[in-house]
Amino acid sequence: MAADKIWEEFAEKRASPLRSYISKKFNSNTERVLSDGLKLNKKLVVLDAGCGSGRWSFFFAPRVKKVFGIDSSKTAIQNARSANKFSNTQFKIGTLTKLPFKNNTFDLTYTCITLQHIVNENDFQKAVSELIRVTKKPGRIAIFETIRQTKQTRSNYIVCRSVKEYKRAFENFGARFLCGRGIRFPYLYFAYLTLLKKIYGFSPKYRDVRDTIAFFKKLEKSSFLPLIKAGLSFIFLISAPFDFLSKYLAFLSTERLMLFKK
Ligand SMILES: C[S@@+](CC[C@H](N)C(=O)[O-])C[C@H]1O[C@@H](n2cnc3c(N)ncnc32)[C@H](O)[C@@H]1O
Repeated sequence: MAADKIWEEFAEKRASPLRSYISKKFNSNTERVLSDGLKLNKKLVVLDAGCGSGRWSFFFAPRVKKVFGIDSSKTAIQNARSANKFSNTQFKIGTLTKLPFKNNTFDLTYTCITLQHIVNENDFQKAVSELIRVTKKPGRIAIFETIRQTKQTRSNYIVCRSVKEYKRAFENFGARFLCGRGIRFPYLYFAYLTLLKKIYGFSPKYRDVRDTIAFFKKLEKSSFLPLIKAGLSFIFLISAPFDFLSKYLAFLSTERLMLFKK
């Protein structure tokens, strides 16, 4: 299946009620890291590159001056446009490898789990140079990506690069690395994921995005859905007191926020 088709299906999966429920729970932790780390203010013009259905554009919208979300998936952009309640936020179809914006347009350019899905190395290099090109000087580029934990880091739609690889790619095009920070996941889930990834290399969900989509579709049809939701809520609840610990264990985290300066 072509990559574009996969992302159309993915956008539909994102819209699924169970996926949104889980995503909402996890977002609260990521929001804390972004709020602390990005020093958002009402003067900033922000690009959310690979915005999907707009969840991070909507996080930025009330905190900054203007937000532009761009994604190559038509379905994702349609979802984002119909969910958009902010007059300072716009969505556009487009690719990271050829961003439809002038040089030096954005104060903050952001990607969330998008560069990791550009598996072709030439396209990745183009995307990095495009992200830097459209960022103002001085301006910042924040990338939130799954980083490499084991050698087995590639599938048909994801490649997990190390922090070193990201640093090298951005520095090659003239950006400077400022800092990196682990994303705080609710502790128990975070520990579970880390363990799985450490033991098995890749968690099975990374083998093919279609397996994840099928998995969620099956779960949603299950008569155990209320029980599954209750179980998840319980995990989130008991993990809350441990959340502060993950701050000190951020080096273990599989997702990192990396900040660059142009
Ligand atoms: C895992 S989703 C993340 C979406 C969003 N950033 C979020 O966190 O909800 C990856 C997104 O990247 C988009 N994408 C993949 N390759 C792209 C490219 N070359 N240009 C623009 N968007 C791309 C996909 O369509 C998909 O919406």
